Amino acid sequence: MMAIVAFVMGSAAAIAGWKGRTLATTKTEVAIKNKADHRKIAPLMYVFLLSGYTGGVLSLVMQGQPILESPHFVTGTIVISLLTINALLAATGFIGNKETARTVHAYVGSAALIVLVAHAAFGLKLGLSI
Ligand code: HEM
Ligand code: HEM
Repeated sequence: MMAIVAFVMGSAAAIAGWKGRTLATTKTEVAIKNKADHRKIAPLMYVFLLSGYTGGVLSLVMQGQPILESPHFVTGTIVISLLTINALLAATGFIGNKETARTVHAYVGSAALIVLVAHAAFGLKLGLSI
């Protein structure tokens, strides 16, 4: 389930965000549609990932396993931190619509998705070790 959220919603959000950014001057209509899609998908994905993060820790607690020390926990915390920066940037209207803030948002979000690839591998490893 988390892989679906991370990869299906993640790539949909990222593609829509980047299309919105790169087509803004050449294909304005398409860009507006993609930005609207991104505004719908990205916050929902963020909420699902936050729930998964909490759920992952709770699941280990219930199984009496050690918590907060696996590589999967470390990459999960990095991802949530990066996406929280992004959510805050978006919530503040990119700090008064600053171009730099939009650029930081675009790259921080993309970096989070790249970290998610390693995160998924660590998740599988963690699951198989229990
Ligand atoms: C998957 C990680 C993410 C990526 C790759 C990403 C990428 C982008 C990009 C490229 C843009 C266009 C920036 C520009 O106009 O120059 C954008 C805009 C935006 N993003 Fe994200 N983003 C991500 C996560 C998030 C999250 C977690 C939220 C909110 C919780 C969010 C909310 C927004 C909003 C509100 C906009 C402005 C849309 C508009 O101008 O209509 N994004 N994002
Ligand atoms: C992508 C595929 C993923 C897989 C295969 C996966 C797998 C797992 C497994 C097997 C556990 C141990 C809990 C249990 O056995 O029930 C776990 C825990 C956890 N997961 Fe995931 N997970 C994935 C994605 C995510 C995502 C997207 C997040 C949030 C960013 C996340 C955050 C966590 C956290 C924080 C824990 C607790 C780790 C600890 O305290 O050491 N996982 N995950």
